[in-house]
Amino acid sequence: MFVIDATVEKSIELDNQIYLLKIHSPQIAETIRPGQFLNIRVSDSYYPLLRRPFSVCDVEDDFFYLMFNIYGEGTKILANKRFGDVIDVLGPLGNGFNYNGDYDTAIIVAGGLGAAPFPFLIKKLPQDKNVYSFIGGRTFKDVIIHGMKNILTATDDGSLGYKGTVVDLLKVNLPMLNSSRIKIFGCGPNAMLRSLKEFCIDNNLDCEVSTESAMACGFGICQGCPIESVDNPDKFLLVCKDGPVFNVKDVII
Ligand SMILES: Cc1cc2nc3c(=O)[nH]c(=O)nc-3n(C[C@H](O)[C@H](O)[C@H](O)COP(=O)(O)OP(=O)(O)OC[C@H]3O[C@@H](n4cnc5c(N)ncnc54)[C@H](O)[C@@H]3O)c2cc1C
Ligand code: FES
Repeated sequence: MFVIDATVEKSIELDNQIYLLKIHSPQIAETIRPGQFLNIRVSDSYYPLLRRPFSVCDVEDDFFYLMFNIYGEGTKILANKRFGDVIDVLGPLGNGFNYNGDYDTAIIVAGGLGAAPFPFLIKKLPQDKNVYSFIGGRTFKDVIIHGMKNILTATDDGSLGYKGTVVDLLKVNLPMLNSSRIKIFGCGPNAMLRSLKEFCIDNNLDCEVSTESAMACGFGICQGCPIESVDNPDKFLLVCKDGPVFNVKDVII
């Protein structure tokens, strides 16, 4: 884990007010794995006081990318970063996806900004894996397809792709995928992750999800990011240290 002053290379605004921030840091680019995250101090002042956690969206040479939209004060400040600005970055943090397993087809399931960790994961998947990306949002504006492969889309209002949730779309397509051994990688709002968990357990599918929690330290000290464990209801796991990626069977979302 490093604490690094990393330099902004450029800020790219995609459609729908989604930002990609390209940041130079050979240490992070070399060491980070898909699904791990960084805890970022967005300003030099004490406001906002706490760092903000972000998945690494992609890595290219000595650069890494963050993906976000303007949500609160922290992301508003990040969206205004420009070439040469220096950002204090803590990471890599967390465990990351376990993608070198015994399966043929990787199914990405993302809701809204849950798309953020997947361009990097897709890039790192072993060459022999097939990939399908099931991408959902409330409306077409919330569907983020940047860096995805073999894309199927769903929107709650039917403005793009299948009308319904992204998990409904997965259910409809399961017969098509059933001939191969699949592993599912999910990220999105908790309601989506709960529905994905139920679907995977019902269909006996292996599934890892990247979870979110409000965070302070980002590395297991403050105990501020608990998530309930299935095995031991009296014991909480920590999203920052034990996660953010969990097998859906292991946690109560
Ligand atoms: C491991 C991890 C990876 C993440 N990766 C990304 C990413 O790649 N891109 C991205 O856009 N966002 C990501 N997030 C979420 C991101 O950290 C928050 O959205 C961020 O704190 C927003 O900062 P802000 O200052 O703009 O808003 P804030 O001012 O921090 O938040 C505004 C409001 O949202 C609430 N809030 C903040 N964070 C969360 C949260 N995680 N869950 C529920 N409520 C929250 C706050 O309590 C507050 O009420 C990630 C979170 C985690 C834990
Ligand atoms: S954020 Fe401090 S323990 Fe997880």
